[in-house]
Amino acid sequence: MTDQSNAALAKDTLLDIEQLCVVYRGLTRRPVQAVADVSFSIARGSTLALIGESGSGKSTIARAIAGLGPVESGSIRIDGMELTTARDRAAAAGAHGIQIVFQDPTSALNPRWPVWQSIVEPRLRERLDRATQRDIAADYLGRVGLNTRHMDRLPQQLSGGQRQRVTIARALVSRPKLIILDEAVSALDVSVRNEVLVLLDALKKSEQLTYLLISHDMSAVAQLATTVAVLYLGKLVELGPATRVIGQPAHPYSRALIDAVPALNRTARQELPHLGGEIGDPAQPPSGCRFHPRCPFVMDVCRRDEPLLQSHHGGDVACHRAIEINTASSNS
Ligand SMILES: Nc1ncnc2c1ncn2[C@@H]1O[C@H](COP(=O)(O)OP(=O)(O)O)[C@@H](O)[C@H]1O
Ligand SMILES: [Mg+2]
Repeated sequence: MTDQSNAALAKDTLLDIEQLCVVYRGLTRRPVQAVADVSFSIARGSTLALIGESGSGKSTIARAIAGLGPVESGSIRIDGMELTTARDRAAAAGAHGIQIVFQDPTSALNPRWPVWQSIVEPRLRERLDRATQRDIAADYLGRVGLNTRHMDRLPQQLSGGQRQRVTIARALVSRPKLIILDEAVSALDVSVRNEVLVLLDALKKSEQLTYLLISHDMSAVAQLATTVAVLYLGKLVELGPATRVIGQPAHPYSRALIDAVPALNRTARQELPHLGGEIGDPAQPPSGCRFHPRCPFVMDVCRRDEPLLQSHHGGDVACHRAIEINTASSNS
């Protein structure tokens, strides 16, 4: 690669995560390595979806990036700025344009504050007068599809969808570069969820945002993602363009996840047997490939050696048998 294309690549990268490890240490339990050597980057203006069963480490990665959870080792850079070494990591993440929206808007909003106050709160340091604050709140309410009628309501006077729109407005008001959506639409009813997804997609363009989307809802992922990263027990097992990972998942775990959603199995792949067993305990991960106890393609090498991420059809896959099983399934 030439220096010039390296520079172009670097300019295009907003968030860069290298060899991230997170370990939770308790007093009684053995240490839990919840995230192990995870690397990925997110291009400016794109949406990277992080998928994997509950317990795979998605929120741990989200909290590490936002400075709200521990980092054992590795690097998290936004626009080239290292965040893991900051004294106050949460403040550094905010100052460099990272915001996070969680699943539950109720706990994210002060129940005693009217909507306008929650929205402008991240900008109180600017010492704006009250009229200006209300103008800003009104502006951002409009951007998320609400209006001045909602300004003086309390969170409990809003529907779940409206509350989540308020937390999105609150995330937008500090003009972020990256918004982490950690199951941000998961608690909403299907029709409301679709409206909020459409809003998020529109905001991405109008506010020039980049998203890290965490969702167990594959249709949300298919709707928004540019890139998909599949996490299993703290390890990335597959990373690639969304259309390819969703259309032709190469790792047996990705296949099991995506084939479980009938609407996405468009190519009528031969279905894998339903994913049995449980994700397991990151405090005692299986030897070799962490997925091996549940994998229908398991062989001795999988129990013994950890597979590395390797290039595969425009992405990366960590599976000893990726080439073999994908050739076999495309022939069948
Ligand atoms: N504060 C914590 N202390 C100890 N273990 C934790 C803590 N938070 C999460 N874990 C463990 O780390 C693993 C990953 O959890 P999490 O990141 O919440 O996964 P996900 O968001 O994919 O469901 C799980 O095994 C979980 O039990
Ligand atoms: Mg989670």
